[in-house]
Amino acid sequence: MTLDKIKTLIVNDDMEIQSDIVDIFANVEYITVVGEAETAEEALEFLENENPDVLVVGANIPGGGHKLTENVMQEYPDQVVILVERELKEETVRKAIFAGAKDVLVYPFTPAKLVDAVYRSFQLEQKKQDIQRSKPQRKRRKTGKGQVVTVFSTKGGVGRTFVSANLAVALAEQTKGKVVLVDLDLDFGNAALALNIVPRYTISDIIDEIRNLDQDMIESYLIPHRSGIKLLPANAQPQMAEFISSDHIEIILKVLQNAFDYVVVDMPGRFYEPVDPAFQAADMLLMVTTPEVATVRNVKAALIALDELNYPKSKIKVVLNRSDRRDEIKPKDVETTMNHNLFSILPADYKTVPSSLNQGIPVVLLHNMSKISRSFHDLTQKVVGDDSGKSA
Ligand SMILES: Nc1ncnc2c1ncn2[C@@H]1O[C@H](COP(=O)(O)OP(=O)(O)OP(=O)(O)O)[C@@H](O)[C@H]1O
Ligand SMILES: [Mg+2]
Repeated sequence: MTLDKIKTLIVNDDMEIQSDIVDIFANVEYITVVGEAETAEEALEFLENENPDVLVVGANIPGGGHKLTENVMQEYPDQVVILVERELKEETVRKAIFAGAKDVLVYPFTPAKLVDAVYRSFQLEQKKQDIQRSKPQRKRRKTGKGQVVTVFSTKGGVGRTFVSANLAVALAEQTKGKVVLVDLDLDFGNAALALNIVPRYTISDIIDEIRNLDQDMIESYLIPHRSGIKLLPANAQPQMAEFISSDHIEIILKVLQNAFDYVVVDMPGRFYEPVDPAFQAADMLLMVTTPEVATVRNVKAALIALDELNYPKSKIKVVLNRSDRRDEIKPKDVETTMNHNLFSILPADYKTVPSSLNQGIPVVLLHNMSKISRSFHDLTQKVVGDDSGKSA
């Protein structure tokens, strides 16, 4: 913790906004205003002599707020820039993020919102610098690229999150390897909930750093679980998902593959372009279905779609979840309909599973000897043993 105040430079030619920001900061003990400027040019002049921590820049100042942000990021990459807009438009937010701004605020804003943006952006930047300083000591993983297991279904509520969380934990337990669970259900992801984790950082924070992303950086954003696995949570605010592109996901998965033995991915319940790289990167695609007619049909359609895209059939493993002896649709029927052998059958357990999800404790930890946990150990063994999808 630093006791130094956060030094800010406020750049705006709109005097209403300018004085409002100055007033807000005047009431915050740990923020100080070290300079004010009206144009991009004045701001750059100021930076030649002074070293503020955070710039709060109007988007429409003379010389352009985005242009200024870009210049600042190029010359002073450790600077934090927050842009202020009069109006929220999608393309302006995108522009701000590409220029390298850490946050965008729409005026009028509450004091809390402004202060929070300054504080949070500043802390993230400090953290990044700390990591860069402490780089050489890090332990590297032994060798090779990690195995990616993508858990998917085109039907919601079939147990993707349940399967991916328990598989991740069981993999860590059985292999003693490094395991990360990635929540790519960008809009509705609840893997953190399944592990009873309150996310400090989410995938959006990594997107901010995508240009500098490496193993150390990404590991510092992951959240450790007591089972030994790490979690990369989905966003707390779903509206941030629209800034995540398939290029971002591709980079994130590549970096994780280099740092972990197993990368388990919890997917959204539909095909969704930004998460396409999770199909490409997968060594194994676990297709989860449950034994209901509608679900089996739906998943079958997804298998056909994948086939039409020439997705390698050898990578696809069908998992039947919530299976019960009394089901009308038998495992054999699922196999026939899908034209795939079942890779694994996970029994329905309406006592253990909901209670495990409610408590945020994976069943393999909660009731290690239960039938459902034993099924996970079998599934895990198969995942470890199977390298049919591996090219090398
Ligand atoms: N084997 C099982 N036995 C009993 N209930 C189960 C089983 N697997 C999953 N469930 C229940 O199904 C519900 C959905 O599970 P889960 O959230 O893992 O599915 P999902 O496919 O990730 O759903 P979503 O579409 O919401 O992301 C949960 O309430 C869970 O309790
Ligand atoms: Mg889910």
